[in-house]
Amino acid sequence: MKRHTRRLETAAVHGAADLEKKNGPVGTPIYQTSTFEVTDNDEQQRVTTTDRYYTRWGNPTNTVAEQAVAALEGVESARTFASGMGAITTTILALLKTGDHIVAQRDIYGGVTKFFSQWLPRLGIETTFVDTNDYEQYARAIRPNTRLLYLESPTNPALRVVDLKKAAALARQHKLISMIDSTFGTPINQHPAEYGIDLVMHSGTKYLSGHADLTCGVVAGRHELMEPIHETRTTLGNCMDPHASWLLIRGLKTLAVRVARQNENALRVAEFLEQHAKVRRVHYPFLKSHPQHAIARQQMSGGGGMVTFEVEGTGEDARRVSEAMRLFTLATSLGGVESLVSIPVLTSHAMISAEQREKMGVTEQMVRLSVGIESCDDLIEDLERALQAVGARATVQVG
Ligand SMILES: Cc1ncc(COP(=O)(O)O)c(C=O)c1O
Repeated sequence: MKRHTRRLETAAVHGAADLEKKNGPVGTPIYQTSTFEVTDNDEQQRVTTTDRYYTRWGNPTNTVAEQAVAALEGVESARTFASGMGAITTTILALLKTGDHIVAQRDIYGGVTKFFSQWLPRLGIETTFVDTNDYEQYARAIRPNTRLLYLESPTNPALRVVDLKKAAALARQHKLISMIDSTFGTPINQHPAEYGIDLVMHSGTKYLSGHADLTCGVVAGRHELMEPIHETRTTLGNCMDPHASWLLIRGLKTLAVRVARQNENALRVAEFLEQHAKVRRVHYPFLKSHPQHAIARQQMSGGGGMVTFEVEGTGEDARRVSEAMRLFTLATSLGGVESLVSIPVLTSHAMISAEQREKMGVTEQMVRLSVGIESCDDLIEDLERALQAVGARATVQVG
């Protein structure tokens, strides 16, 4: 019998054998630790600039996720955050100060509209919202104190497409930082940095992770811009947990195949809806009827997994359709392998005023679909059946 060399309390903590250093793991290990041991205080000073100091600064599992996104976007660096909103708010707080001004396209995620119109004014930062596809309006809105051009493409939920080349050129001409929320675009379908956009942001909660099992955000760009963003993240404490990073890494491995399938399914779903009598309008970038179809085909390799349609009826009809679906799950969020349905005025754009929604063209009749990787025939059958709810009388349960 092996003699105890340490007391039981110590053996319980330190007793397990170290894993072999050779035969490295194929899967990325989760560094589920808040801190890292150093041999002396000189080393303690040196590690502060690495991912082995303290997890609020950085963590090796987070680094793997960050490097993967930087590689996908074709940029020097990326940083992860606790959520997509965390990525946006931290970036803006890092790069702007009191007295600065933002030009932002009007239709963007409602949470960002709220941050720009209700929070930033408290810090003395103003935003001018411009019509998403009117680039002359963008130019007219630029002032001497404008610092940031904020974009989103395709937009949530109306799926408008921004001309990335035009927007990036405008930002360069006026020495503005350009930033895009590319969540709906995914790093598979579009690469905004190739057009000269400075910062590419994703709600990693969506396509990057792809399984509706974590909340995270990512911003990617040049070192020079990413450094203050990292420093601000460290100060605000808005970092991602290593376990969530590991889930993100796992999700990223199948991003390309998931998105390819979602592109295919969503295009078929959009074409089906477009010919349906109970559908007034379908918003999907790769439909010929889409107002920015030509730009979408130029700058995107796939139309994406999001399809928004407006029912030929009322807001009540839209709600009934969304509740009649069986395969599309009624839930907010998007980008996962499973198909979801939501009503934008009640979810992604519920936090802003009806007036703001109207200006963005977000209507009560809108139904937003996040198309998953299921059999497309099953998805279409589900939609066909659910659309019968348009115009149907609401049933009154008695007794
Ligand atoms: C386009 C877009 N950007 C940003 C966000 C915010 O991301 P998160 O929920 O991860 O904070 C969302 C969330 O729905 C979104 O749809």
